[in-house]
Amino acid sequence: MEIFYEIKPLRAFLRGKRKNLSSIGLVPTMGALHQGHIELIKASRGQNDLTVCSIYVNPTQFNNAFDLEKYPRTLDSDKEKLEKAGCDVIFAPSNEEMYQTKSEIGFDVGEIGSVLEGEFRPGHFNGVAQVVCKLFNIIQPNRAYFGQKDFQQYKVIENLVDELQFDIQLTSVPIFRERSGLAMSSRNQRLNESEKANATVFYQSLLMASELVKKGEQFITVKNKVKQMCEATPNVKLEYIEWVDTKNLKPVQNVLDGSVLLIAGYVGDVRLIDNLLLE
Ligand code: PAJ
Repeated sequence: MEIFYEIKPLRAFLRGKRKNLSSIGLVPTMGALHQGHIELIKASRGQNDLTVCSIYVNPTQFNNAFDLEKYPRTLDSDKEKLEKAGCDVIFAPSNEEMYQTKSEIGFDVGEIGSVLEGEFRPGHFNGVAQVVCKLFNIIQPNRAYFGQKDFQQYKVIENLVDELQFDIQLTSVPIFRERSGLAMSSRNQRLNESEKANATVFYQSLLMASELVKKGEQFITVKNKVKQMCEATPNVKLEYIEWVDTKNLKPVQNVLDGSVLLIAGYVGDVRLIDNLLLE
C-alpha cells in the first residue's frame, strides 16, 4: 500500500499506473475509519484494478468549530485497517496541501442542498462540493464510492457530477450498522457506552416511523411520536425527522415507493444522522 501526503507525487504515481490499468476507484473519507468505510473499500476493490482512499478532515464543510476540533483523527489505525482491507493507495493531505490558495470559489448546490442538513448546517454542502471536486480533479477516478448513510450528501454529489460533467460513475453503498442498529459513524467514537445505547433511539425512531407510515398514519402524528420517544431518552435531542421523495428530497405525504425517512439529532454534544429507505 502506498501513502501520499502531497498531490504532485500522487498524480505522477497515478499517471504511471493508468497506462496499465483499466479503472481506478476512489473512496473519499475523513478518516477515523470503521466497518462502514471498509464496505466502501470492498465495493471499490470488487470493481476496479486500483483503489484510492482519501483521508482528509475537510475544514470547509464544518459549520461548527467545536465539531471540527473534536473530530477523531486516527491515521495510524486507519492505515492498518486499509492495509488489511486491501486498499492500494492512501491520500492523506494536510490543509496547506489541499487549500494552497484561499478557497474563494463557492458552490450553490441548489435546492437539494438547502433543506434538511443544508438548513441545519449552513455552508456544509458548499464545503463538501469543494473538497469532492478537488479530490475528483486530483485523482481522476473512473468510479467513486459513497455511503447511503449520508443520503443527502450522495444526492448533492450526484448533481455535481451531472452538472459539471465529471466522467465518474458513482455508487451508493448501504448503511453498515452496529448489532444494536446504530449506524456506524466516526463520531460514535466520541460516545461512551451508555450514550451509544441511547443513540440507538434514532434507528428505533426510523423503524417505528416506517411501520406507522406504512399503516397509513399521518406524518404529523408520526413526528410527534418520534419526538416523544427521543425526549424520553436521556441526553438525546431530536433535530428533525422528515419523510421525503428520494429523487428531489421534497416532503411526501403518503407515497411509500421511492421515499426515505431521514433523521438527525444530538446525543450529548455529538450530532448524528441516519435514514431508512421505504418501498
Ligand atoms: P466520512 O463521514 O468519513 O464518510 C466517508 C464515506 O463513508 C461517506 O460516503 C459516508 O456516507 C460513508 N459512510 C459513513 N458511515 C457509513 C456507514 N455506517 N455505512 C456505510 N457508509 C458509511 O462523508 C464524508 O466523510 C465527507 O463528507 C467526504 C465525502 C469525505 C468529503 O469530505
